[in-house]
Amino acid sequence: MAKVDTLQSLFLEELRDLLDAEKQLVRTLPKLARMATAPTLAAAFREHLEQTRGHVTRLEQALEGLGLRASSKKCVGMQGLIEDGQETIEEAEDGPVRDAALIGAAQRAEHYEMAGYGTARTFATLLGHAAIASVLESTLNEEKAADAKLTGIAEAMVNPEAAAEPPHGDRSSFAARTAEWLGSTAGAAAGQIGRFAGRLAGGGQKTASSTTRTGRPAARKTSATGSAARPRTAAKRRSAQAPRAAAAKTAGRARKNTRSR
Ligand SMILES: [Fe+2]
Repeated sequence: MAKVDTLQSLFLEELRDLLDAEKQLVRTLPKLARMATAPTLAAAFREHLEQTRGHVTRLEQALEGLGLRASSKKCVGMQGLIEDGQETIEEAEDGPVRDAALIGAAQRAEHYEMAGYGTARTFATLLGHAAIASVLESTLNEEKAADAKLTGIAEAMVNPEAAAEPPHGDRSSFAARTAEWLGSTAGAAAGQIGRFAGRLAGGGQKTASSTTRTGRPAARKTSATGSAARPRTAAKRRSAQAPRAAAAKTAGRARKNTRSR
């Protein structure tokens, strides 16, 4: 390993470290964009991915401009931030909470880069590399802008939505309560349908569209006085009434009970 004994060599180490950090982010940002739920957040990650590719190019050009090979040095700091962020993101519930975790992880990486670019820019200025200092300053400003954009998305949308998310346990009990309510409502509806069917069987239907099992109208329309329609002949009346006698009797009782309430 080369000995770092001058500010110049330390500056070059910084550039190579930043180059590797940016390359790691080029591989990571598409994953963050895919994992984001909010379209605005996904778009912000994709936009910063394009900027980050430009940051890689700038660093390579800076090294080449100094007569060096554009090689990078493993940035274990960025590697750790990415691994740590990934663990938190995967543990987070999909939706606003995960988006909040994505923003938190991305901002840690941004701040790490901002510190690195600020240092490298200052070294470049001190060492008389004005053009490189200017480029590093531009990148630093883009990192700051990306960080501010994430803060804006977090404060305006993601964090309030994440704060409103109920805990997973509460969600389960909410689902149970909803199922219970739906069950009781369905039961009540079934009871009403049963009572209505009973009235039909007793000749008390009041809807012109109701039909028998054969598809014919169950009975003629109710008269103006509200009396139930009857089959046209005595034979039909008997054949219609005989199999329904028990149901009609029950329905009649039910009507009576309803009226007395
Ligand atoms: Fe960057």
